[in-house]
Amino acid sequence: MRRRTQPLLQQRQQALKRREPFLGSMFHENSKFTPQARHELGRRISQLQDEGLLRRVSSSYKSHPGCPQVALPRAALHLERELQEIIVGRRSTREFDTAQSVTLQELANLLQLSYGITGSLELDEGVTQYLRAIPSAGALYPLELYLVAQRVEGLAPGLYHYRVAQHALEVLETADQAERMLRMEREWGMGSPSAFHLVISGVFERTMFKYHERGYRFVLIEAGMLGQNLTLLAECQGIRSCMAGGWGDDELNQLFGLDGGAESTLLTLCFGRASRGGP
Ligand SMILES: Cc1cc2nc3c(=O)[nH]c(=O)nc-3n(C[C@H](O)[C@H](O)[C@H](O)COP(=O)(O)O)c2cc1C
Repeated sequence: MRRRTQPLLQQRQQALKRREPFLGSMFHENSKFTPQARHELGRRISQLQDEGLLRRVSSSYKSHPGCPQVALPRAALHLERELQEIIVGRRSTREFDTAQSVTLQELANLLQLSYGITGSLELDEGVTQYLRAIPSAGALYPLELYLVAQRVEGLAPGLYHYRVAQHALEVLETADQAERMLRMEREWGMGSPSAFHLVISGVFERTMFKYHERGYRFVLIEAGMLGQNLTLLAECQGIRSCMAGGWGDDELNQLFGLDGGAESTLLTLCFGRASRGGP
């Protein structure tokens, strides 16, 4: 009990003295690919071929049956600046112009081109595997995207889930989250409320059933790739963003009805137009 209340730094110093490995180092060690682990993985993957691997690779989507849906326009992104200029010009923004909103088209561009379906493969047994806008270990796509909308034209403020297979938003709740988000954003160091948030979650089993501990690394790597895709796609459209690392896991998981174990929030991003004179 006493240990839990000790400051983290103190705990780490004591662990160092006792030569105890940190949890992170232990995880890293146990998720290494060794010749033996590779052999074991190969054996399991061939076993999985007979146990529904095909079905799994063709069903990497979550949906909320019975939820109303908002159809999204297909992506239509027109670059007015060179990619180099967009990458160099990207800066995290924490002060948003609360008088400006973003359009549904801009949001749809973000969603479809960051994690939407971009191709397909016909596998054995008539199974279609859909491919997405970012690479994914084993093409298993473990991530989900949730939206907290505040100032998006054509969308009531509220909570939504991106239903990738239909390129639509599922309406989870239309209660205005402005106050709650303002409080959370202040905790994360933001200055003024953003137009919307996107929350990336991971459904760990989708990747870990195949790659075990190594799979956890893959899920985090993929969340980072999706985050960067989102910031650059926003930047292309004159929308600024900031990643936020300091959310309270339980509070955010509860907001979207996630259990925090099988599926948990991994990364949060705020978006909006920068206030005048801001970065
Ligand atoms: C995983 C991650 C978490 C972050 N968390 C926060 C945060 O909670 N609050 C914040 O103001 N900025 C946060 N940032 C933004 C960084 O502070 C920012 O990227 C960094 O200062 C570099 O500045 P730039 O993005 O403008 O290039 C985070 C960035 C990353 C990648």
